[in-house]
Amino acid sequence: MASGNRVITFQGPRKMELQTFEYPKLITPKGKKAPHGVIMKLITTNICGSDQHIYHGRFGAPKGMVMGHEMTGEVIEVGSDVEFIKKGDICSVPFNVACGRCRNCKERHTEICQNVNDEYDCGAYGFNLGGWQGGQSDYLMVPYADFNLLAFPDASHAMEKIRDLTLLSDVLPTAFHGLMEAGAKVGSTVYIAGAGPVGRSAAACARLLGASCIIVGDTNKARLDLVKNNGCEIVDLSKKTPVADQIEAILGEREVDCGVDCVGLEAHGSGPEANEEHSEAVVNTLLEVVRAGGAIGVPGIYTHPDPGASTPLTKKGQLPIDLGKAWIKSPKLTAGQAPIMHYNRDLMMAILYDRMPYLGAMMNTEIISLEDAPQAYAAFSDGSPKKFVIDPHGSVKA
Ligand SMILES: NC(=O)c1ccc[n+]([C@@H]2O[C@H](COP(=O)([O-])OP(=O)(O)OC[C@H]3O[C@@H](n4cnc5c(N)ncnc54)[C@H](O)[C@@H]3O)[C@@H](O)[C@H]2O)c1
Ligand SMILES: [Zn+2]
Ligand SMILES: [Zn+2]
Repeated sequence: MASGNRVITFQGPRKMELQTFEYPKLITPKGKKAPHGVIMKLITTNICGSDQHIYHGRFGAPKGMVMGHEMTGEVIEVGSDVEFIKKGDICSVPFNVACGRCRNCKERHTEICQNVNDEYDCGAYGFNLGGWQGGQSDYLMVPYADFNLLAFPDASHAMEKIRDLTLLSDVLPTAFHGLMEAGAKVGSTVYIAGAGPVGRSAAACARLLGASCIIVGDTNKARLDLVKNNGCEIVDLSKKTPVADQIEAILGEREVDCGVDCVGLEAHGSGPEANEEHSEAVVNTLLEVVRAGGAIGVPGIYTHPDPGASTPLTKKGQLPIDLGKAWIKSPKLTAGQAPIMHYNRDLMMAILYDRMPYLGAMMNTEIISLEDAPQAYAAFSDGSPKKFVIDPHGSVKA
């Protein structure tokens, strides 16, 4: 057994640091025994746009918190109450921590588990949500392992597809959830705000679902190129032409069936306001460009309070939303964390049977070491068109 655990810790805004902590134990953040848990040796552990909100000081986190919530790994130690997950299984870890026993878990709402965080009905690794240690590390403790883990059917097949399967812990199911909440289906026209890893995952999932016209908006040209080169249309928000006009030029009409917010609270405006933060910009754009009777999924994160926000209202986590203007359209809008377990098995099968051959090109993954993670945070923050995936033990490179 290893003696230590190298981890990436949050030391304050724009300061991530590699440290060595103790090897994890089968114990919960509250110090209770967790015989329902396992210890995993991590194969891949990704950096997410949600980590970026923490990095930018926009999602409160204590100094020293271990980062990371997108883990895939091999089970190397099994608690005495774990019945079905075995040593040697290669598994995807949904970023939601869920007990599998409460009312919400039973209703497949693992994103709002009632038993894993005393403050809110919502737990996750590597956030200030229940104290669950993050997984940008060598090893990780996963509680309620039989319930939470998704074991891949075949280890060597999983390693062949690991660059795509690593997306199952968060961004791919999250994006799929956004599309489901937006009512996307065969033939739908879709506007996806944001071409980061979640937006690009949403574009890939919209293709999988058979959506017709898939339009992705951003100002980041390198990110937009990745979706344009892989079967989608783009809206460039740095142009003066308003979003609805650009949609009309592509689609022949100003409204789409489905809208997905893959941006969150650090949204900027468009045209002359493209370099200013307007946290409300994406939601208001979606209320405008989604047709009457259409729907909007909001996986983009909004927090309260948001001390780093630019206005007194947004500091309180409140947004000036054009509901009065939009009300007449009977809008449906769903926000919140994504219940990963709802979709990860189906998406795993789609990957294993090659139904998303364009996914790798859209995501543009770069495999990095744990030592490189602090630099990757900075590059991601500067708008890099890559998805950074940490390979702590060199298992993917090998
Ligand atoms: N709900 C969940 O469970 C869940 C899970 C994962 C990620 N998220 C959230 O999803 C969001 C996206 O994640 P990501 O990793 O892709 O982040 P990211 O920061 O890499 O990408 C966001 C992109 O949005 C663009 N953008 C900014 N303002 C815009 C606007 N007005 N219109 C269109 N695009 C705009 C940015 O230029 C950037 O490229 C984040 O808020 C993240 O925290 C939520
Ligand atoms: Zn994530
Ligand atoms: Zn629960």
